[in-house]
Amino acid sequence: MQIMSRDIGIDMGTTNTRVCVKSKGLVTKEPSVVAVEVKTDTVRAVGEEAKEMIGRTPGSIVAVKPLKNGVIADFDVTVAMLKKLIRSGMRGSLVSRSRVLLSVPAGVTEVESRAVFDAARQAGARTVDIIEASMAAAIGADLPVWDSVGSMVVDLGGGTTEVAVISLGDIVTFSSTRTAGDSLDEAITSYIRKKHNLLIGEITAENIKTTIGSAYELDNEDGNVIEIRGRNLLDGLPKNVTITATEIREALSEPISVIVETIRSTLEKTPPELAADIIDRGILLTGGGALLPGMDKIITDRVSVPVMVAEDPCNCVALGLEKRLELDLPFDSYQNRPKYY
Ligand SMILES: Nc1ncnc2c1ncn2[C@@H]1O[C@H](COP(=O)(O)OP(=O)(O)OP(=O)(O)O)[C@@H](O)[C@H]1O
Ligand SMILES: [Mg+2]
Repeated sequence: MQIMSRDIGIDMGTTNTRVCVKSKGLVTKEPSVVAVEVKTDTVRAVGEEAKEMIGRTPGSIVAVKPLKNGVIADFDVTVAMLKKLIRSGMRGSLVSRSRVLLSVPAGVTEVESRAVFDAARQAGARTVDIIEASMAAAIGADLPVWDSVGSMVVDLGGGTTEVAVISLGDIVTFSSTRTAGDSLDEAITSYIRKKHNLLIGEITAENIKTTIGSAYELDNEDGNVIEIRGRNLLDGLPKNVTITATEIREALSEPISVIVETIRSTLEKTPPELAADIIDRGILLTGGGALLPGMDKIITDRVSVPVMVAEDPCNCVALGLEKRLELDLPFDSYQNRPKYY
């Protein structure tokens, strides 16, 4: 019998987890959610299926997000999620001999990266290696990471915003903030509660953000409104309210300023030659938050550096993992710090 080994890359994010397979590209994208039955503490579903179950079986099944701000918050649930994803990546292989490359946030502690390594091993990976997500994103976006030129990547995820300056295959400077996509949703919820006495759910808040949200005043935004339904805090009854794009921009301005300041401070602590490269060549935005209209413009405006949104911002990390797998480098041993070649 032929023994097959398969190389799998997993971008385990706070909101979404993406799986790629060497020579096949991206194979799966699932929400990072696991449905757990409370009474028996057993896993009922993972990913999309888990997300759909939530709310339909109130009480008995809870939605657990295995990651918080990019790091493992619930180890067993992470193992359950990885098991399913590794299996989906292994489809078609005769024998489960998987080598798994995982991305971790830059600046994770040794304990945190060790947990990722152990979770993947417990989920069935034969060999595991890790790489910083910012590095993977830069590789995925075809930045010249191996050159002596400085590149800046800003990955706007759900749970963290990671800013990294890369040169000669290594991360030279980085910062991260927990102000990211989820914070933008929370800012919308809180604004609507205060201004309209209306209580809205997480999903509604995210929906508002992705339909009429913006970081910068856009042309023709008059008339850009959305009708939402929530619970009136004054009488507890359902109520509909019309929200404008201008209101949402106001709601988002504070967390967006935090993100912009994180970028500015990273640039300030970057060695001058590399900072000059970045000013010339621009900053690359990746992650789901890069899709917020005007995000690029507000950064350019406040930091005075050109900003580009990656071609496929949500999948940059996963695509970078696949490119690294294509290089066919040895997965010999676990390193406390990801190793670049
Ligand atoms: N069109 C859009 N406009 C604004 N935000 C968006 C849009 N599409 C997705 N997002 C946001 O992007 C975030 C998810 O991005 P992504 O999948 O990169 O995160 P993640 O990798 O799971 O998280 P992290 O990297 O922080 O662990 C969510 O907050 C989501 O609301
Ligand atoms: Mg991410």
